[in-house]
Amino acid sequence: MTSFPTRLINKLEERSEAGNLRKLAERDEGIDFYSNDYLGLSSYTTIAHTSASSPGSSRLIAGTTNEHLSFERQFAKQYGHEAALLFNSGYSANCGLFSAIGLKDTVFVYDEFIHASIKDGLRLSFSKAFSFKHNDVADAERLLKKFKGQHVFIVVESLYSMHGDFAPLKEISLLAQEYGADWIVDEAHTGGLFCKGGYCEYLSIEPLPFARIVTFGKAYGSHGACVLSAQLVIEYLINFSRPFIYTTALSVSHVKELEEKVIHSDLSQHQHQLQENISYFRAQCKQTGLISAPASPIQTLHIGDTHLAKLREQECEKNGIHIKAILAPTVPKGLESLRISIHSFNTLKEIDLLLEIL
Ligand SMILES: Cc1ncc(COP(=O)(O)O)c(C=O)c1O
Repeated sequence: MTSFPTRLINKLEERSEAGNLRKLAERDEGIDFYSNDYLGLSSYTTIAHTSASSPGSSRLIAGTTNEHLSFERQFAKQYGHEAALLFNSGYSANCGLFSAIGLKDTVFVYDEFIHASIKDGLRLSFSKAFSFKHNDVADAERLLKKFKGQHVFIVVESLYSMHGDFAPLKEISLLAQEYGADWIVDEAHTGGLFCKGGYCEYLSIEPLPFARIVTFGKAYGSHGACVLSAQLVIEYLINFSRPFIYTTALSVSHVKELEEKVIHSDLSQHQHQLQENISYFRAQCKQTGLISAPASPIQTLHIGDTHLAKLREQECEKNGIHIKAILAPTVPKGLESLRISIHSFNTLKEIDLLLEIL
């Protein structure tokens, strides 16, 4: 982080002085006159984690338990940041982060293929936002030159889900350092994929970005998301991020599931098998037009025609194989393609069958 703007820090201090600084407190025993658990159904469950399964309230009222705080602490440590904050989904994490951190004179410079949830967050902020050409560091630099002297955030994804290509994070990190900008990366599609600390750890990115977003609905096979950043930024989000404040907290049982999957599971066997399957797919693929990165679980075949792409998709469907034709306007006209998600559990026989049909 270059520096968290003084005006934003002042807003926290104003709250503190006024005595209305929001803080997370662990839910404790006592007679409940504060949650929204009107019918007392939150602990009525047949699954293993029975006690206080749903907090029945937002995080700032009765919805923060030791499990929430403990998961956030462990997750932040695992990903190498000072602090983490749970959101109910990646969508709300992005809306909640980007809508909160921008001031009127803040500038966001983002990749044109950035996810809709980030675009929505930017729209909700008071800041100006400008896109640069996909994965084009020189084009990003053009914008940084233009806005030199202003507080700029560069915003990218680690892995773009429509093309299966990775962002040049090292170059983005260096660019940010050169121009005194902050940068943020959405690791929705790389969390859990390579190593415990995400794609930044995999690439040995130092220093880490201003913030990262990791969702649990992709490789982690659950749902929910975390924003990772400095303690001060997380404190700010607790106070000013509306999608965090005004919603019911994730249930305790869900947070326990997250802890088991994200913190304690050894995913290395799955990660290894996935890479084996990707390599096999690419080696066997006789088609030219593979535009994805070699290590990407999203393998994209360029078709260049709507009708043909749909025909190939239908042909696969007829044989019981689900793939997705990506058409304009999701991608620019002429870049119509087939999007194939490779999994660790796909068998070589399944991959052979898919390629045979294609
Ligand atoms: C890059 C990216 N960010 C955020 C999200 C939203 O995540 P969630 O499904 O957890 O809301 C997605 C979902 O597709 C995504 O691809």
